[in-house]
Amino acid sequence: MKNLITLYINGSPFQVPTGITVAAALAHCGVLHTRRSVSGESRSPLCGMGICQECRVTINQSPHQLACQTECADQMQIQTGVPA
Ligand code: FES
Repeated sequence: MKNLITLYINGSPFQVPTGITVAAALAHCGVLHTRRSVSGESRSPLCGMGICQECRVTINQSPHQLACQTECADQMQIQTGVPA
């Protein structure tokens, strides 16, 4: 049995397995878009290895964090859809 932690994605609680990245947690929870481009287009993780910058989200009120390079922590607050 996997240990679960609680995240808040755009204010809603979700439980995810420990040890996964924020990008994996977003996909696990059905949140497919991470940010918006300056022209308003929805963007999603692409490379999964810290290069493309498309996975940027706000984590615990800190903007522009790479979801694919950040491990989830219990009670983490994640906000998606922020223009960046
Ligand atoms: S998915 Fe490309 S930097 Fe995170």
